Amino acid sequence: MADLQKGYHDFKAPAGRKKVTVIGAGNVGTTAAQEIARRDYADVVLVDIIENLPQGKALDLNEAAPVLGYEPAITGTNGYEETAGSDVIVVTSGKPRSPGMSRDDLVTTNENIVGAVTGAAVAESPEAIVVVVTNPLDAMCHVAKHTSGFGKERVFGMAGILDTARFRAFIAWETGASAKDVQAMVLGGHGDQMVPVVSATSVGGVPLSQLVSAERIEAMVERTRKGGGEVVNLLGTSAWYAPGAAVAQMVDSILLDQKRVLPCTALLEGEYGIDGLYMGVPVKLGSRGVEEIVELELTDEEQAALAESAGAVREVVGVLALA
Ligand code: NAI
Repeated sequence: MADLQKGYHDFKAPAGRKKVTVIGAGNVGTTAAQEIARRDYADVVLVDIIENLPQGKALDLNEAAPVLGYEPAITGTNGYEETAGSDVIVVTSGKPRSPGMSRDDLVTTNENIVGAVTGAAVAESPEAIVVVVTNPLDAMCHVAKHTSGFGKERVFGMAGILDTARFRAFIAWETGASAKDVQAMVLGGHGDQMVPVVSATSVGGVPLSQLVSAERIEAMVERTRKGGGEVVNLLGTSAWYAPGAAVAQMVDSILLDQKRVLPCTALLEGEYGIDGLYMGVPVKLGSRGVEEIVELELTDEEQAALAESAGAVREVVGVLALA
């Protein structure tokens, strides 16, 4: 009789199922793991440095599986052996913000963590695609790229889908429209100087500027820029439901080769007039990772705001030990 205490290690995944490793079994990592597991096309390995934490979270997620209708295919571990052969590695390990902190205050602590976990994970999964979530996001993408030695198409970050989702939610409330019909794009670094692109924002195809006054648009843009801080002030730590959902949307596009155009943090080499810097831009995401960087036509004002955001990202990247 099978040892009922054992859990998922003994489960033999059907051939063809994908494998996703999520590093960091905290708020964002566990939410991302749950969202991905619920899709039911991939086995999920949850890694954390805290003993018993990933094992306990994985067990709980596996026990939700029969109710929610997915395979109990989540493994929790403190090591990397179980992560071998992953198709995607999601890096969420590191400190989140507390009230009064900027994302950039986390840079040195999280640089060490992201460097260590990326090195250990890519050693087991040399063909994987790495999705970085840990803040300060743009700088941590540089760390993961440097440590992994992977090409830029296989190392990129999640921030833009979250920032765009916040903007879309505010627009849905303001206009009384369904959030599903709000199209928007937020570019730039994942900081307070991010650039919600109003010229690329519409509701049911109607430009936002025809529906809402300039003053109200500006208020929503400002709320989006400070959206992360608004949650931190309420909760004492950063958000996880929307970030976890955003990670899963990226994993879908990669592993199902959907080729969605989504705002992601990608290494720019001349696009948007920016060179050698990770920044949020629309990218086509497919099985090869970043398959294309899509260049939107920006207004002069938006282009200037993007350049300013790049300046802020460069300052943080300059603090990295690798720089
Ligand atoms: P959390 O504190 O709930 O979880 C972080 C986990 O990382 C902890 O369980 C911790 O034990 C683990 N960890 C630390 N060092 C580790 C190591 N060396 N190896 C393995 N695990 C390790 O934090 P939360 O809320 O999940 O946030 C995680 C990161 O994601 C933070 O840096 C946060 O700022 C960032 N974040 C980024 C977003 C984005 O849009 N890119 C959105 C929300 C959060």
